[in-house]
Amino acid sequence: MNYSFIPVNDPYAPTPTEVVQHKLDLLALQDGETVFDLGCGDARQLIMACAMANVTCIGYEILPEAIEDANKNIKDAQLSDQIEIKIEDIYKADISEADALILYFSRSVLGVLSRKLENELPTGARIATHQFDIPGWSAEIEKEVLQKDGSIEKIYLYRKI
Ligand SMILES: C[S@@+](CC[C@H](N)C(=O)[O-])C[C@H]1O[C@@H](n2cnc3c(N)ncnc32)[C@H](O)[C@@H]1O
Repeated sequence: MNYSFIPVNDPYAPTPTEVVQHKLDLLALQDGETVFDLGCGDARQLIMACAMANVTCIGYEILPEAIEDANKNIKDAQLSDQIEIKIEDIYKADISEADALILYFSRSVLGVLSRKLENELPTGARIATHQFDIPGWSAEIEKEVLQKDGSIEKIYLYRKI
């Protein structure tokens, strides 16, 4: 299927695994929660979320190679019952039931997306991002993580109020 009519916001750049772990630690997922990754790439963030708690996950993605990687990774991890990939634009995602979002987008995309988060996320939903903060939102936690290559990555936890 060709989804090239949907504008791609930011390239396919997977979050380093160690950074995913720190983002998930901040989200403190609970059994029974629903976790979203808008622009889920290879679905690693959602697969790792399933190792933290008994959660249901929904990823949105439109890039064919990322969808292929995500489906393969989910199958290999035997998590097809827990993780669903929707081949749809992130701006059309129904996030009204989300307990937690794990995102990786540039600041400009987060700025546009923030209007959807403000309007559609339930109160109390948590969002973990890294490298870029969400313009206009106050982070509940900001953390600097030292990576193996010596670089420092900034991680943010937000809560919808
Ligand atoms: C920076 S990557 C992050 C991948 C993954 N979330 C991670 O952290 O490893 C952004 C992803 O969003 C996807 N994306 C960009 N625009 C999108 C859109 N409008 N709808 C759905 N996915 C989109 C890209 O294809 C890419 O895989």
